[in-house]
Amino acid sequence: MLLSPAVMAEKMLGFYRDHGRKDLPWQQNTTPYRVWLSEIMLQQTQVKTVIPYYLKFTQHFPDITSLANADLDDVLNLWQGLGYYARARNLYKCAQIIRAEFNGEFPGDIEQLETLPGIGRSTAGAILSFSMNQSAPILDGNVKRILARVFMVEGWTGAGKTLNQLWQISEQYTPEENTAEFNQAMMDLGASLCSRSKPQCEICPLNKHCQAFIHNLVEDFPNKKPAKKLPVKEQTFLLITQNDQIYLQKQPPAGIWGGLWSLPGAEGSSPKQNIITRFKHSFTHFHLYLTIAMDEQKYLVSDKALSQWHNLSDLERIALPTPIRKFLFKHFQLEN
Ligand code: ADE
Repeated sequence: MLLSPAVMAEKMLGFYRDHGRKDLPWQQNTTPYRVWLSEIMLQQTQVKTVIPYYLKFTQHFPDITSLANADLDDVLNLWQGLGYYARARNLYKCAQIIRAEFNGEFPGDIEQLETLPGIGRSTAGAILSFSMNQSAPILDGNVKRILARVFMVEGWTGAGKTLNQLWQISEQYTPEENTAEFNQAMMDLGASLCSRSKPQCEICPLNKHCQAFIHNLVEDFPNKKPAKKLPVKEQTFLLITQNDQIYLQKQPPAGIWGGLWSLPGAEGSSPKQNIITRFKHSFTHFHLYLTIAMDEQKYLVSDKALSQWHNLSDLERIALPTPIRKFLFKHFQLEN
C-alpha cells in the first residue's frame, strides 16, 4: 500500500506512544547542549554504553560555557573509552566557537549549526527537533536503514546518490508537528524492530507499507557497501620503565590519537630484538599492527619536549589509545 506522509506520521507517533524511549538522560531537562552532547556521543556508540559517560560528562560540564572553559585534557579524560577521539576534540572546539561567536547559545538555524565542527546535517536536525521544537529531518544509521527498506532505495547508503535519495525521502516524510516524537520513534524503531540483522517485521507498524518486506527482500536492504580491502600499517612502540614509572609521549593534536598519551613510537616494524608482543588493532579505515619492544634507553626518543615519566599507579587516570591501554593493563596486570 502506498505510504503517505500522514499515514507514516500516524504509525510512527503510535509507535512512539507505545514503545518510544522517553526516559533517556538527554530527554530530561532538555537543552540544545544536552541533546548535542548525546548526539555526538551516540555517533558510532550504543545508548547503553553512552549513558554512564553522558552522566559523568554532564556532571563535570553541565552547560556549553563550562565545557568551553575547560582544559582539553579533562575533556579527553572524560571521553576515555568511548573511542573516536576526534569527536571529543570537535566537541571542545565547537564549545569554544559557540562561546566566541554565538554568545554561548546554540544557533537555531540549520545552516549555522552545520558550520560547527562535528555537526553534520543529521545532528543539526536532531538538535533542532529535539531541543528547539523545530521541524527538521534526520538521517542517522537507523533512519537510513528504515527508509532504505520501506522505500527499497537501491545502493549503499554511504554513496552520494543513495544518500541524496534518502534525504529527500526523510524531508518529505518528516511531519511539521510532533517532529521530536516522530524522530525519536524512527531512531527507536531502527534500534529495535528494524534492526540490521533479524528484524521483527511481523510486529512492525510499517510492515503493510514496507516495500522490502512486501517483496521478501528485507535482508537485502540497505544494500551492502562494495567490499574494499583496508590498508595495513605497522608501528613500533617502546616500553621504557624505571622503578614504578613509565615513559609516555603526548601525541600531537592532529591524527587518530591526538592529545592522548602513548608509548613513544615510530612507523614501521624496525626492531628485531626485545620484542614483547605484536598484535593487530583495526580502525574503520585501516588495520594497524603494533609491535611493542622493551627499551631502557629513553635518549632514543626523538621528541623529548612531549615526553614525561608517569607513575604506573596513575595509568588508569591517563587518556591512552585503546590498544596501548589494553596492552599496558595486561602487561602490568592492572585492573581495567
Ligand atoms: N541515537 C542518537 N540519538 C538518539 C536518541 N535521542 N535516542 C536513541 N538513540 C539515539
